[in-house]
Amino acid sequence: MSDSVAVPTQVPPSSVVLVSGGSRGLGLAIVTDLIEAGVKVAAFARTVTPELTALAEKFPEQVHVGSVDINDAKAGQAFVKEVETKLGPIDGIVNNAAVGQDSLHVHTSAEQIAGIIQTNLTSPLVLTRFVLRRMMAKGLKGRIVNVTSICAQRGYPGLVAYSATKGGMDSATRSLARELGGRVLANSVAPGFFASEMSAVLGQTQLDQIVRRTPTGHLTEPEEVVPVVRMLLLDNTNINGQVLVIDGAASI
Ligand SMILES: NC(=O)c1ccc[n+]([C@@H]2O[C@H](COP(=O)([O-])OP(=O)(O)OC[C@H]3O[C@@H](n4cnc5c(N)ncnc54)[C@H](OP(=O)(O)O)[C@@H]3O)[C@@H](O)[C@H]2O)c1
Repeated sequence: MSDSVAVPTQVPPSSVVLVSGGSRGLGLAIVTDLIEAGVKVAAFARTVTPELTALAEKFPEQVHVGSVDINDAKAGQAFVKEVETKLGPIDGIVNNAAVGQDSLHVHTSAEQIAGIIQTNLTSPLVLTRFVLRRMMAKGLKGRIVNVTSICAQRGYPGLVAYSATKGGMDSATRSLARELGGRVLANSVAPGFFASEMSAVLGQTQLDQIVRRTPTGHLTEPEEVVPVVRMLLLDNTNINGQVLVIDGAASI
C-alpha cells in the first residue's frame, strides 16, 4: 500500500465567466462584482444597456458584451466563439437571464407558457450544453451557477409556469452535478424577491406581505446574492449539486 496521501482533485476558480442577462438587475450586479474580483466576464442580453456598454469600454481586455436572444441558439453559439477568441476559453457559466410572469395559470395561453419555458429552462440548458462540450474538449474544469428562485421552493399565485422553470433548473443542477463527476461544480442560487424590472409587477401589498413574513425584515438585495455567486465560481469549496436559498428565511 502506498504511504502517499491522495491529493483531492479540486476545481480551480473560474477565470472566464459567461453571464446571461447581464444587462441589468441581478445579472449586472454579478458582472460588476466579477470584474472587481479580476475575472474576465462575457455578458449578453437582448438589449445591451448603457451600464453594460460602459463596463465593456472601461475594461476592454476583461469584458466582452453582446446583444443575443438566448432563444436564438445559433446567435448564442456565435457569441461563445467570439468570447473564446477575445477572452479565452469559458470555464464558468451563470445562467441568470429569465423572463417573469404575472398571470394566473388559467389566463396564460399555451404560447405564453411555452415562451417562459423556452427562455428560462430549455435555452439555458442548450447554451450550457454547448459551453460544456467545448470546456470538456479542451480538458477544462469549471463551474455552473444557475440563478433560480424561491418560487421553486414554495407556491406563489401568478407564477405557475415561471415556478416550473425554476424548479426544473434546480433539478437539472442536481443531475448535472452527478453527471459531470466533479469536473464541473454545478449549483443553484435561489433568491427571494428583490426589486428589479422583473418584480415590478408585484404590488406594494404583496411586497409588504413578503417583508412581514421574512425574519430578517427586508426583501433580498442583489448585493446579498452576489457574494454567494462569487463564492460558487471562485472559492475552493466542495459545494456541488446544491440549491442555496437566499431569502432571509422568508420561505422557512
Ligand atoms: N426579481 C426577483 O424578485 C427575483 C427573485 C428570484 C429570482 N430571480 C431571478 O434572478 C434572475 C435575474 O432577475 P432580475 O430580477 O434581475 O430580472 P431583470 O431585471 O428582468 O433582468 C433579466 C435579464 O435577463 C435578460 N433576458 C431576458 N430575456 C432574455 C432573452 N430572451 N435573451 C437574453 N437575455 C434575456 C434581460 O435583458 P433583455 O430583456 O434586454 O434581454 C436582463 O438582462 C432571473 O433568473 C430571475 O428569475 C428574480
